[in-house]
Amino acid sequence: MSESLGVAVLASGSGTNLQAVIDRLHLKDESGVRVARVVGSRAGIGALERASSHGIPTYVLPERDDGGHWLQNVLEASGAGLVVLAGWLKLIPPDVVRSFRGRMINIHPALLPAFGGPGMYGRRVHEAVLDSGAKISGATVHFVDEAYDHGAIIAQWPVPVLAGDDADLLARRVLAVEHRLLPTVIEDFAAGRFELDASGRTAWTGAWCSGNEFTMHSETRAD
Ligand code: GRF
Repeated sequence: MSESLGVAVLASGSGTNLQAVIDRLHLKDESGVRVARVVGSRAGIGALERASSHGIPTYVLPERDDGGHWLQNVLEASGAGLVVLAGWLKLIPPDVVRSFRGRMINIHPALLPAFGGPGMYGRRVHEAVLDSGAKISGATVHFVDEAYDHGAIIAQWPVPVLAGDDADLLARRVLAVEHRLLPTVIEDFAAGRFELDASGRTAWTGAWCSGNEFTMHSETRAD
């Protein structure tokens, strides 16, 4: 890998996905990926503490950011080649989506296009999965577009829904695979293995596709 990929992470919560990206990529020179900055949707969240403890610059979204000008400036100034929404609860303003189209991804704790969209975050996602009677849930990484949880799917990892599950148990099982899926997708992006094509779909540049690999061999894939 010739040049390192700078990643800007947007987070609203405890930041365990951010931590996975720090541990698996940022702290490993050979990954060619560094976290350039972290933006929190409010002060005092765990994600900002995690970033600060690794010397990663942090920013807090102002209460009013009409049109997303502040966010746009912070992301552009970071020089990041990729923006990662890791537990970000706010809709990205359309101008910002446009500027980073094909360079902005989100992780969602269910198998999209089911169980996504406005209001589908946190426990609510897992409660909806349990209420539906679905026997499989999982994690999805997708490109960000103008709607919540709607952009082109990049990779998914299925997780079984087990008898006796409650939302917390299911959330924990899904989160464990999120922590493996997200860094892998970022690595794939850094290596140029996929892109958003002109028709708005994810195009893999070779026969290899981590999305398939997770789906078919999730039990055997090595870390
Ligand atoms: C994750 O489940 C992610 O999929 C969702 O929000 C949660 C964030 O968790 N979008 P964390 O802050 O990374 O621990």
